[in-house]
Amino acid sequence: MTATAATDQLVASMTLAEKASLCAGRDFWSFYGVPRLGVPAIGVSDGPYGLRKERSTEQVQLGDSVPATCFPTSAGMASTWDPELIEQVGRALGAEARAEGVSVLLGPGVNIKRTPLCGRNFEYYSEDPLLAGRMGAAWIRGVQSQGVGASLKHFAANNQEQRRFSIDALVDERALREVYLAAFEAAVDGGAPWTVMCAYNRLNGTYAAEHEWLLTRVLRDEWGFDGVVVSDWGAVNERVDGLAAGLDVEMPGFGGHHDQLITDAVNSGLLPADVLDRTVARILALIERTAPARAGGHTYDRDAHHALAGRVAAEGTVLLKNDGGLLPLTPGGRIAVIGAFAEQPRFQGAGSAHINPHRLDDAYTRLSELAETTYAPGYRRDSDEVDGALLAAAVEAAGAADTVLLYVGLTESYETEGLDRTHLRLPASHDALVAAVVAANPRTVVVLNNGAPVEMPWHGDVPAIVEAYLGGQAGGSAVADVLFGLAEPGGRLAETFPHRWADNPVHALPSGPRQAEYRESVYVGYRYYDTAGTDVLFPFGHGLGYTTFAYADVTANDTEVTVTVTNTGERAGSEVVQVYVHEPAAAGARPEQELKGFAKVRLAPGESRAVTIGLDRRAFAWYDVAGARWAVTGGRYEIRVGASSRDIRATATVDVPGDGPPAPAYPVPAAGQHWDRDRFGVAFGRPLPDNTADVPGAYTLNTPLHDMRSSPVTRLLQATARRQARGFVKDPKSPMALLIGAMLDEMPLRMLSMMSRGKIGRPVQEGLLDLINGRRLAGLRRLLRARRR
Ligand code: BGC
Repeated sequence: MTATAATDQLVASMTLAEKASLCAGRDFWSFYGVPRLGVPAIGVSDGPYGLRKERSTEQVQLGDSVPATCFPTSAGMASTWDPELIEQVGRALGAEARAEGVSVLLGPGVNIKRTPLCGRNFEYYSEDPLLAGRMGAAWIRGVQSQGVGASLKHFAANNQEQRRFSIDALVDERALREVYLAAFEAAVDGGAPWTVMCAYNRLNGTYAAEHEWLLTRVLRDEWGFDGVVVSDWGAVNERVDGLAAGLDVEMPGFGGHHDQLITDAVNSGLLPADVLDRTVARILALIERTAPARAGGHTYDRDAHHALAGRVAAEGTVLLKNDGGLLPLTPGGRIAVIGAFAEQPRFQGAGSAHINPHRLDDAYTRLSELAETTYAPGYRRDSDEVDGALLAAAVEAAGAADTVLLYVGLTESYETEGLDRTHLRLPASHDALVAAVVAANPRTVVVLNNGAPVEMPWHGDVPAIVEAYLGGQAGGSAVADVLFGLAEPGGRLAETFPHRWADNPVHALPSGPRQAEYRESVYVGYRYYDTAGTDVLFPFGHGLGYTTFAYADVTANDTEVTVTVTNTGERAGSEVVQVYVHEPAAAGARPEQELKGFAKVRLAPGESRAVTIGLDRRAFAWYDVAGARWAVTGGRYEIRVGASSRDIRATATVDVPGDGPPAPAYPVPAAGQHWDRDRFGVAFGRPLPDNTADVPGAYTLNTPLHDMRSSPVTRLLQATARRQARGFVKDPKSPMALLIGAMLDEMPLRMLSMMSRGKIGRPVQEGLLDLINGRRLAGLRRLLRARRR
């Protein structure tokens, strides 16, 4: 019997109640099985750069997970530009999950970095969909090679943390297709994930969890996804609508709290029985596919995974600036190591991706093996304020040394799930430290630990800057090795570093309380900066090495580009060859150029290699919304080959036959102009909606608690939840406390089910909503009725 026939038979032998039970989690971290039929329950765990298997399945206990390898966060993985290496990371993650009996790993996150302020950017790959999608696909292939399913997330348009549970992302379809969905499409196409996780937010008016166009028409019918769609944790709004739209499993689940809704809907004919059967068949297939993850007896080699984490950290380290060849450092001489991050590494972000590393290297220990060192912390980790005594000691240490290695970046509270940054600056104490130290000793190397771009007002005064991102558990030692030339800085930026936040188009656009308007359309990241000719601090794709490369003999047609790359320096090194396509003017409103291929090559000194990078029809296409298809405007395209979006080394032209019209124009800024919300951007084709908060009397189950705080009932709910949270979050300044605070402000009433582990269900929520809306009598009646049930 084929697997499908066996699954169909299994579905046919299940009762309606059994089928409904499979459509939600058993608890926070597992799916139900069907014991009567020998179908096992399966376990799931976060996340994108390490296994976060919680010790309890009954609740979320961020911070209490089994020890695992913490790889560099996704931002660092992306800057390797090396899908093969990331596939190896995937294999290692899959092996760790399998050793712990985990059947599905909740990653990768391929959301586009629409703004550099998004608090989860460290968990995402890039501002470019091709790069994000290829990295995601590689990760998925690696994980799934171990018999563990991946969960591609957060589908879709979850590009900010602020109000993520309720925000409505208004995105024109062209931007969706060409940018936001394109990353998911590439990951589905190249990785074939066994699950996809839908996002919390709404997309053009509809919650992702019940978005039929998104979850069924695009994901399944167009892209051929054949796996299971799971909800983000607490993302389900209307359960039955979700099922009908293509959402299979609600997570988490609590003792079947929505089963009745599903069985009633089937019995009343509201939900066709075959829709439920299809969902159940998909879930059974997932359980079957992941059988190897539960076979038992698997182990993994911790030391080997630690070494791999170190390799990825070095390969993802981006040498942003190296005036006078200050790096690599040569042995000998006194080194002042300054900055608390050198001793207590900042190596990962906060939230559901947070790993409990089985080992942790710090930079200072490794640097002390390589050179004669002194150390000064320079700043406090728990405060942004400048500490005069620490600053003075750091300046003194800098003055007495030959060279300074200065570790600064973003402290924990800046980068966490649930919160966006409010500005792009470093903590004031870090900026002040850089200025003072470089004044005391101009031979200063700044090493940055952060998960996303920062402004660098001091960049002109510092000769060498290294972006080490959040490098995982082996990042401290790996980056120390890079500084001394024992490893090459293999990274290139997967995102633009603007001079200032105000240079980004999103800065000018309205975001919240209800809608985030993506008026910049396809002009995201370098697509915008390069079109507008905005000067940037470090461009997309940028990164130096310890050697140099020459590009020659570029040839191109519409299926491939070939270029000869020569290592012209004295050390072995790697180069990321990037191919950008520039459309002819007649092609209409198109970004100045778009990344359409890349390859990482390693060359010995003097070695040359012809590098061929494939192109397909999509490399020239734009999404024609009116025609509902990808269209190519015929004409002469320029193929630009280079070392960053602003460092094009060679070009070729290609005549491409067309099959469609030019892209419709809408006003975009000319070179040197800034984005102006009233003059530029996409017209949504309808009046812009009312972007104001809900008002008393008209609050809904989806209104964020913060917006209803004028009601004593809301305040009581929040205070009770805060009191409970205090039980497991000791430090009120910790990122975890900030995350919980944000959740309690931003969550809508319907998420009380998740927060109370199913105890506060819909009937009670509706009673509370009446009270909050001032309908006291109706509210009390409902609550009494709910109590009696
Ligand atoms: C996050 C997901 C995560 C899930 C489970 C959610 O809040 O958005 O990325 O996988 O929690 O921890």
